[in-house]
Formats: sequence, C-alpha cells, structure tokens
Amino acid sequence: MKKSLFTTTISLLIIFVSLPILSYSQTCNKDDEKVLFQIKKAFGNPYHLASWQKTLDCCQWYNVECDQNTSRIISLTIFQGNISGQIPKQVGDLPFLKTLVLRKLTNLTGEIPIAITKLTHLTMLRLSWTNLSGSVPSFLSQLTNLNFLDLSFNDLTGSIPPELATLKNLNALHLDRNKLTGVIPDSFGTFTGNVPDLYLSHNQLTGTIPKSLGYLNFTTIDFSRNQLTGDISIFFGLNKTIQIADFSRNNFTFDITKMVFPESLTSLDFNHNKVFGSLPTTLTGLSLQYLNVSYNRLCGQIPQGGDLQKFDNTSYFHNRCLCGSPLATCA
Ligand SMILES: *[C@@H]1O[C@H](CO)[C@@H](O)[C@H](O)[C@H]1NC(C)=O
Ligand SMILES: *[C@@H]1O[C@H](CO)[C@@H](O)[C@H](O)[C@H]1NC(C)=O
Ligand SMILES: *[C@@H]1O[C@H](CO)[C@@H](O)[C@H](O)[C@H]1NC(C)=O
Ligand SMILES: *[C@@H]1O[C@H](CO)[C@@H](O)[C@H](O)[C@H]1NC(C)=O
Ligand SMILES: *[C@@H]1O[C@H](CO)[C@@H](O)[C@H](O)[C@H]1NC(C)=O
Ligand SMILES: *[C@@H]1O[C@H](CO)[C@@H](O)[C@H](O)[C@H]1NC(C)=O
Ligand SMILES: *[C@@H]1O[C@H](CO)[C@@H](O)[C@H](O)[C@H]1NC(C)=O
Ligand SMILES: *[C@@H]1O[C@H](CO)[C@@H](O)[C@H](O)[C@H]1NC(C)=O
Repeated sequence: MKKSLFTTTISLLIIFVSLPILSYSQTCNKDDEKVLFQIKKAFGNPYHLASWQKTLDCCQWYNVECDQNTSRIISLTIFQGNISGQIPKQVGDLPFLKTLVLRKLTNLTGEIPIAITKLTHLTMLRLSWTNLSGSVPSFLSQLTNLNFLDLSFNDLTGSIPPELATLKNLNALHLDRNKLTGVIPDSFGTFTGNVPDLYLSHNQLTGTIPKSLGYLNFTTIDFSRNQLTGDISIFFGLNKTIQIADFSRNNFTFDITKMVFPESLTSLDFNHNKVFGSLPTTLTGLSLQYLNVSYNRLCGQIPQGGDLQKFDNTSYFHNRCLCGSPLATCA
C-alpha cells in the first residue's frame, strides 16, 4: 500500500517535471519543415495544405504527424484534397517517415518516384485512387520494413515485379484495379517472413498460377477479374489455412470433383470461369459465409447439408447441369 502510494507520487512527479520538456521537444525539426514547404510548393500551394504555415509549429500542421520523442515527421497523409501534379521527389527527404498515404487524389499523376527508396523506415505506403501511371517499380523491394503496400485504383501498367517477394514484413499487397499485364511471379511462392494477403483483382493478368504459391499458407487471395487460366487447387487441401478466396471472372478450367477444401475456408467465389465436374461433398463440412460458383460448367447434385442450402440460387445458377436445392430438383 505504502509502496504503491510512493510509486504514484514518483510517477506524478516525473510527469510534471517532464511536461515542459515534452512540449519543448515537440518543436518541429527545421529540416523536415523545409522539406514540407518544398512539397507544398511542388503541389502548387493547394488549399488543402493551408495549415502548413511558418506561424505554426509543423508538428501542429494537418496531414502530418511528429514522433513524440524526436519531433521528426513520421507520417504524411493526404486524403481527398485538391492536389495536382506529380509526387514531389522531396518526399524522400523526410528520413523518419513511417507512413506515406496519398489517397483519392484524382489529379495526382506521373510515376512513383525512386526518391521513395530513401524512406527506409517506411512501414505503410498507400498510393491509391490516384491517376499514377507507369510501372509498379521493382525498387519498392528496397523498403524492407513495409508491412502494408497499397497501389490500388491507379493507372499502373506493365508486369508485377518479382522482387516484391523479398519484402519480409509484408502483411498485405494491394495491386488491384490497375492495368497490370503478364503473369503472377513465381517468386510469390517464396515470401520468407509473413505471407501477405494478395489483392490482384481487376487487372489483365494472364497465365497459370505458379505452383510455388502452393507451398505457402495464404489467408486472403483476390485474383478476380483477370484472364488467369489453369487450376486453383494449390490453394486448397486439408493442411491449408486459406479463409477468403476470390477467383471470379477469369478463365480457370479444371475438374473440381476431387478438390478438398480446408476447414478454415469462409468465403469462396469462382463465378464466371470454366470449372467442370461436380461439387465435392466436403463443402458441407465448412462454415461458409459466402459461396458463388455460378456461371461455370458444373454438373450433378449440389451436396445437401451444412451451409450449402443457405445460399440462394444465384450462388449456383448458370452451370451446365447443376441441380438440387436451391436449384431445381435433379431429374
Ligand atoms: C482536377 O483538375 C481539374 C482541372 O484543373 C479541376 O477542374 C478539378 O477541380 C481538379 N479536381 C480535384 C479534385 O482537385
Ligand atoms: C482545385 O484547384 C484548382 C486550381 O487550384 C481550381 O481551379 C479548382 O476549382 C479546384 N477544384 C476543387 C474541387 O476544389
Ligand atoms: C484520371 O485518369 C482517367 C483515365 O485515364 C481520366 O479519364 C481522368 O480524367 C483522369 N483524371 C484526372 C483528374 O486527371
Ligand atoms: C500439404 O500436404 C502436402 C502433402 O500432404 C504437401 O505436399 C504440402 O507441401 C503441404 N502443404 C503445406 C502448405 O503444408
Ligand atoms: C500451413 O498451415 C498448416 C496448418 O496450420 C500447417 O500444418 C502447415 O505446416 C503450414 N504450412 C506452411 C508451409 O507454413
Ligand atoms: C481461356 O483458356 C483457354 C485454354 O484453357 C484458351 O484457349 C483461351 O484462349 C482462354 N481465353 C481467354 C479469354 O483468355
Ligand atoms: C453470384 O455471381 C453472379 C455473377 O456475378 C451474380 O449474378 C450473383 O448475384 C451472385 N450471387 C451471390 C449470392 O452473390
Ligand atoms: C431462383 O429463385 C427465384 C425465386 O426464389 C426464382 O424466381 C428463379 O426462377 C430461380 N432461378 C433458378 C435458375 O432456379
């Protein structure tokens, strides 16, 4: 009792003594401030960055965040503002940046600048819903601390750089809604640390899924709306841990009859492909929240039981000769 009172007193004392020190250390770093002014200028001094003014400590500005101890800029987040032009190369001169988000900026154009590779502390890079063009640069693999990389909803072209598989800390990779072509790299079966959730939908990817991806335990895969061919069975099997799988609107052509689905699976969508055979009864053993196998070439009776009759007939319709509840009774 006595001791905890003593500890509390000491803690309070420390807080009071350190308060002025803390607020003192919040003073903006002059190098960072200078760089931010250069960025503001490069964007044409937009209204969105009106709080970026000399009269205000830069740790107080909107769209940025300082580290509490060092007062260095650690986050730059610009969302839905009237920003036009290219990403200024000066963003590379905020050496302590951990988060860089430029999102819903339709007038942001040009390519992803190589200066970004100077941001070695970066953990989150999100350049999405902009009009960025050019390729997905392989130099992004130099940002080894990245755990979240989102380049979705842009005009990016070219193929997916295999080097991205060297990012050991990646939890999620969003390259969806671009104009990417070519194949899914073989190297994506060799992520050595985390196995990231892969979002590659709404591109123009072709070819088969590399066998190497079968060696990893993915949790979420979204390859929908591409022109992928072949087989998706490598993601399934009893010893897999996949939960959400969307392969819809591709050109997958395989016999599903003998496929084994892991218990972890909660959402499966492969509508609009050329999958044939009959639905395996193991599907009745799963806790499915979503299922859509419509617009394929399936035949035979829909296995009865589990969650399979919970879905309406649009989960199953437009197949060759699939039958049984919730579709019409088999002949
Ligand atoms: C984008 O640029 C156009 C042309 O300069 C302008 O009319 C429009 O308001 C801008 N939009 C945004 C969201 O900044
Ligand atoms: C964006 O800024 C441009 C020029 O700075 C201006 O002409 C335009 O009206 C602005 N658009 C919006 C949506 O604020
Ligand atoms: C963004 O790109 C699209 C397609 O290229 C184009 O239609 C649109 O006008 C562009 N928007 C801006 C603000 O540049
Ligand atoms: C699953 O088991 C098969 C054979 O039983 C094996 O070849 C495969 O490597 C295993 N996959 C994983 C992800 O453990
Ligand atoms: C995938 O997960 C299963 C089940 O947790 C495990 O048995 C298997 O070893 C894992 N495989 C890999 C390659 O991590
Ligand atoms: C679909 O795959 C088949 C081979 O399985 C191929 O002949 C056909 O050209 C592909 N179609 C498209 C639209 O990619
Ligand atoms: C399944 O996909 C088809 C084709 O996109 C769609 O028409 C249908 O509504 C979907 N069903 C469900 C339950 O989402
Ligand atoms: C699907 O169900 C609706 C009503 O529940 C029915 O009107 C429709 O004919 C059914 N379609 C098929 C293909 O079974």
